[in-house]
Amino acid sequence: MKKILFILSFTIPLFIIFISCSEINKDLPAAPEINIHKAGIKDPNSPNFHGRLVASTDWTMVECKKCHGADYKGGIITEANGNCFTCHTQSAGPEACNTCHGDFADPTKIAPPRALDGSIISSSRGVGAHVKHLYAGNNGKKVLCNECHIIPASFLSEGHLDNNPRSEVIFGSFSKTLTNESDTRDYDYSLPLFSPNPSYDYENNSCANTYCHGYFKNGNLDNIVSFTSGSEGGKCGSCHGNKDTGDPLPKTQQQGGSHPSLVSGITCQSCHPTVVAFINGKYEIIDSSKHINGLLNIFDQERNY
Ligand code: HEC
Ligand code: HEC
Ligand code: HEC
Ligand code: HEC
Ligand code: HEC
Ligand code: HEC
Repeated sequence: MKKILFILSFTIPLFIIFISCSEINKDLPAAPEINIHKAGIKDPNSPNFHGRLVASTDWTMVECKKCHGADYKGGIITEANGNCFTCHTQSAGPEACNTCHGDFADPTKIAPPRALDGSIISSSRGVGAHVKHLYAGNNGKKVLCNECHIIPASFLSEGHLDNNPRSEVIFGSFSKTLTNESDTRDYDYSLPLFSPNPSYDYENNSCANTYCHGYFKNGNLDNIVSFTSGSEGGKCGSCHGNKDTGDPLPKTQQQGGSHPSLVSGITCQSCHPTVVAFINGKYEIIDSSKHINGLLNIFDQERNY
């Protein structure tokens, strides 16, 4: 065993190692398609950093486990430097949900940024508008991961690391919230129903037909919103009202809708006081938990219409 480890700790092609290994012990794992280990295995700035190695071997870490152990605690490597937990100190070790995406320093932040390729800027495909949807400082109720993805129960759950290297955007129920011509959401199915059929365009990184971005009664049904183009999609007028002027007033009768028109002295907050206020010449959402929350918030009520 000593001899094997001596050989292993050098940077040499694996086939040589495994020729030597197989001469000594037939139970050792089959040769993985990597070299162990080039200089820089521990240096995040090196092209040989072990994170890149994991990415280049389909992310599953199956190869790593062959030597470092199924529990990542050393396996066949008897030296102290076989244990991944030396640095990956969470109970799941390198399988912790913020290891490969999210904030490596904060286990509560598992969504990008950081994206899988290391990007942290929102114009990058994998980062996009995650922060705006998930955390504070936005105009609407926080959106959970499962409204856009299926969350894997564990690291090797089906659908997580699949053959497709891109993540899958699979919409949950919120983006499909129904609204209809009646004023209540006790649906009167005899009236026309706005039934969103959300879709994600992997080429343009954009969403269409979502309740959240306009597919509701008097909303902007044909609004297509980019995940990566900054704050456009969050501006007044984008999801309801006029995109160009930023006026959020939904379609009124004159525009083929049914929302009341504004008369002098009346502002949005006259009828939607829990949601919006007119401050310093512009509308502001005063309680984001009540905006884009699947309900119509009118007067002091929060109702299913
Ligand atoms: C010497 C400390 C150290 C050891 C030991 C270590 N890691 Fe890491 N690992 C890190 C650091 C630090 C990062 C994050 C680097 C960054 O992106 O800033 C990381 C990142 C990763 C990533 C994320 C890759 C990516 O590109 O997002 C994976 C996967 C990983 N390690 C797996 C392992 C496995 C498996 C082992 C054991 C075989 C291991 N690590 C041992 C320090 C270590
Ligand atoms: C064929 C066996 C083998 C395979 C497969 C293997 N390693 Fe290693 N690894 C070793 C040995 C032996 C050491 C200790 C000697 C050294 O540093 O080269 C080591 C050391 C490391 C270290 C440095 C740990 C420290 O504390 O200094 C990291 C990080 C690491 N491996 C990550 C990985 C990752 C990630 C994978 C999977 C992509 C992997 N290894 C696959 C044998 C292997
Ligand atoms: C509003 C919808 C939305 C929500 C909510 C959301 N995501 Fe995403 N996510 C996306 C989109 C869009 C992409 C980009 C897909 C693409 O084009 O490759 C993405 C990509 C990703 C990726 C792959 C990143 C890359 O580098 O390719 C990961 C990982 C991910 N999301 C995890 C999460 C996690 C974890 C959560 C919850 C904490 C979450 N997402 C919440 C829409 C969302
Ligand atoms: C070793 C790296 C790694 C670890 C650890 C990891 N993921 Fe991922 N995750 C990925 C990769 C790679 C993708 C995108 C690839 C794909 O979809 O095939 C991804 C995608 C995702 C997505 C987007 C939807 C999807 O499946 O495409 C979610 C949500 C997610 N991961 C959640 C988690 C959770 C929860 C954990 C912890 C149980 C976790 N991840 C741990 C690498 C990792
Ligand atoms: C991301 C899309 C989006 C943007 C941007 C947006 N809204 Fe909304 N807004 C909605 C949705 C969705 C509803 C709920 C519609 C429903 O359920 O019938 C809504 C409802 C409202 C309501 C009715 C009260 C309520 O919450 O039920 C007011 C008032 C309102 N928005 C004002 C604004 C103002 C002011 C702005 C700009 C600061 C704005 N909205 C920007 C999507 C948006
Ligand atoms: C006079 C009261 C009144 C005023 C003022 C008012 N609303 Fe409404 N709002 C309503 C009523 C009633 C509904 C339900 C309309 C329906 O279902 O036909 C509604 C619904 C909405 C909806 C959900 C979509 C819809 O039309 O059902 C949004 C978004 C909205 N209002 C935004 C605004 C904004 C933005 C303003 C200010 C520019 C505003 N409202 C001013 C009474 C008002």
